[in-house]
Amino acid sequence: MEKNRSSFTGKLGFVLAAAGSAVGLGNIWRFPYLAAKYGGGIFLLVYIILAVTFGFALMTAEIGLGRKTGLSAIGAFNKLNKKFTFIGYLAAIIPAIILPYYSVIGGWVTKYLAVYVTGGGHEAAGKTFFDDFISKPFEPLVWLLIFIGATAVIVLLGVEKGIEKVSKIMMPILVVLSVGIAIYAAFLPGAWEGVVYYIKPDFSKFSATTVLAAMGQLFYSMSLAMGIMITYGSYMKKDVSIESSVTQIELFDTGIAFFAGLMIIPSVFVFSGGTPEALGKGAGLMFETLPKVFETMPGGTFVGITFFILVLFAALTSSISLMETVVSIVCDKLKIDRKLSCLIVFLFSLALGTVSSLGKGALSGVKVLGMDLFDFFDFASNSVLMPIVALLTCIFIGFIVKPQLIIDEVESSGKFKRKKIFVFVIKYLAPICIVLILVSSVLDAFGIFKI
Ligand code: PHE
Repeated sequence: MEKNRSSFTGKLGFVLAAAGSAVGLGNIWRFPYLAAKYGGGIFLLVYIILAVTFGFALMTAEIGLGRKTGLSAIGAFNKLNKKFTFIGYLAAIIPAIILPYYSVIGGWVTKYLAVYVTGGGHEAAGKTFFDDFISKPFEPLVWLLIFIGATAVIVLLGVEKGIEKVSKIMMPILVVLSVGIAIYAAFLPGAWEGVVYYIKPDFSKFSATTVLAAMGQLFYSMSLAMGIMITYGSYMKKDVSIESSVTQIELFDTGIAFFAGLMIIPSVFVFSGGTPEALGKGAGLMFETLPKVFETMPGGTFVGITFFILVLFAALTSSISLMETVVSIVCDKLKIDRKLSCLIVFLFSLALGTVSSLGKGALSGVKVLGMDLFDFFDFASNSVLMPIVALLTCIFIGFIVKPQLIIDEVESSGKFKRKKIFVFVIKYLAPICIVLILVSSVLDAFGIFKI
């Protein structure tokens, strides 16, 4: 299976494929609600600082690991040092946890698209439309089933390539549309206060939780710390520059997240006055806010339909990449065929997705560590497991195989301009920060200690 790997054609092919996995609901749905909740400008600033340090170093390390070994996560760690194969396994669990609740949101996007197509845009802008929808016992589950079913069918039929092709046309359109909506929203009366909230850092809102949230979001959004970029690296041609590919993927991914925030956060100020409750809405923020923006626009229904189609594609390319990863691991490790492992992953995701979906509705009273089940899965993967995998990866590269291994791989296809930053981040900055943040936030989640 690991032999005869096909390669991406050239740098553009690689960057687009990796960006297809990276750009998804994380950028458009998750980033804005976190930025709104964790203080706006301060979150944005912390995120950008982390992106150019942690994000850059980890992505370079993962892609380098993959290209050096020509293997996916489990095989790559195993090849370099058998004792550390467990990092690969740990990384492999993460997509299996993310896929189910990712599909819940994919289902919501599908539902909103259907609402706009059937002329229900006006209702969608209603005050309680979103809460009414997610508190229904069955309807969100049906949309979850549709989204996850579509992902499974695409993976099963092996038609990802077709979807990816369409998505490559759609992504630039999504960028243009998001910029357009963001500019429109910024000029709505009362929006300016929101623009300032989003862009201007308020240092009094800084806390360890802000950094942890930004770090988890960085990993999630750039598909890091879960073995995915290692796999992408294993398909990368030897003559393509790793450093400049990483820079481009990061710019693209962060750019889309930035505009999504600009599209949503000022609108929260326009329609809900920017109160802490409105800003802290969490997972429903995009779904509550954008229909109100579309409602005020000429041709709002058309914009709504276009927007939700584009987001649906971005979500599908990501869910496909998540499911592919899980399916291929199940295939390899259980030694079963692709069809059966697709079925297993589908059923598992449906079950776990149902639990997370109900966490926002019928089971919202069930709390783990003070979070509903949906938020708990999100917390477990992004704020606990991913930082742990990132930490282990840094230690592995920094002290076991040594950074030179990655440096050689990067330099085999061009200059490594930020070599010093890379070594410093991987060996010292990232491990120390991750430990500090992880410990303080886990203590915080258990209510033991608060920064
Ligand atoms: N990066 C994707 C997003 O931002 C999520 C994702 C993570 C997709 C891991 C694939 C693998 O939505």
